[in-house]
Amino acid sequence: MAKKVLILGAKGMLGTALMAEFFDLNPVGLDREDIDITDQNQVNQKILNLRPDLIINAAAYTDVDGAESNQDLANAVNGTAVGYVAAAAKQVGAILVHYSTDYVFDGQNQAGYNEDDQPNSINAYGRSKLLGEEELQKNTDQFYLIRTAWLYGPSGKNFVDTILSLAKTKESLKVVNDQFGRPTYTIDLAHTTRKLLESNSEFGIYHFTNQTKPEGITWFDFASEAIKLSDLKTAVVPCSTKDFPRPAKRPNYGVLQNNKSVTLRNWQEALKDYLSKKI
Ligand SMILES: NC(=O)c1ccc[n+]([C@@H]2O[C@H](COP(=O)([O-])OP(=O)(O)OC[C@H]3O[C@@H](n4cnc5c(N)ncnc54)[C@H](OP(=O)(O)O)[C@@H]3O)[C@@H](O)[C@H]2O)c1
Repeated sequence: MAKKVLILGAKGMLGTALMAEFFDLNPVGLDREDIDITDQNQVNQKILNLRPDLIINAAAYTDVDGAESNQDLANAVNGTAVGYVAAAAKQVGAILVHYSTDYVFDGQNQAGYNEDDQPNSINAYGRSKLLGEEELQKNTDQFYLIRTAWLYGPSGKNFVDTILSLAKTKESLKVVNDQFGRPTYTIDLAHTTRKLLESNSEFGIYHFTNQTKPEGITWFDFASEAIKLSDLKTAVVPCSTKDFPRPAKRPNYGVLQNNKSVTLRNWQEALKDYLSKKI
């Protein structure tokens, strides 16, 4: 296992889970107040000074709707900056782990997406993340590109918390039932990232989400399970994407197929674990 670990985006939702997962290796965690990854000089200065063996990039612009009106910023953070980090990683001989999303795909394929399927994003956030995938692969060979989806976990605003706080004040909730995907608990993703590194797996693209039935689950299924596990009585009413117009188009089918060896546990077990740890 790498000796010196640098985690970018260390205070984000996934970054916090990564800092905990790699705690025994005393990782250096940097977030926006320590480094602006869109500034190549800062990236080079930090990485060339620290000379890490492993860099994990969890820094990103993650406001999917906001990206529609802030495309330059989204492209800078999620796209160009990934190239800067990758080039600096190559210069010091570090392995780079980077995260991407199911939103790089168009969501037309009901069977889901394999690691080597051709991306075709339908919104600005997805395009910015796709640019990052390209910049990563252009600038270094020693990378793990991990696509994931529907993240939730401690230290961040997430769907589960939003649904549960609404459920506490409402008798019924309408939730979208025509977008299919796979939720991912950040603690499981951080743990699986470490397993991937420790198994010296081949560099390349990986799809990591919690496991669901093959066709995935909907936001309605996800909300219903969270409410049931929390012993709340709120009625969950299925509705269509059209009932909640948003600035960014969402893919209908975003199931990421994992055809490689390391897998995450079942989504219901992961959700139960998350809820049992909440105060
Ligand atoms: N959340 C999801 O559902 C989801 C789904 C699929 C894939 N992903 C991917 O998974 C990864 C982790 O996502 P997350 O939800 O944990 O993200 P997050 O909670 O939004 O954390 C991202 C972190 O990056 C920081 N950051 C933003 N711009 C920066 C810059 N220019 N320089 C340095 N740091 C900067 C943010 O700081 P501020 O808070 O100050 O902006 C934040 O601490 C990302 O690559 C994301 O695209 C997420």
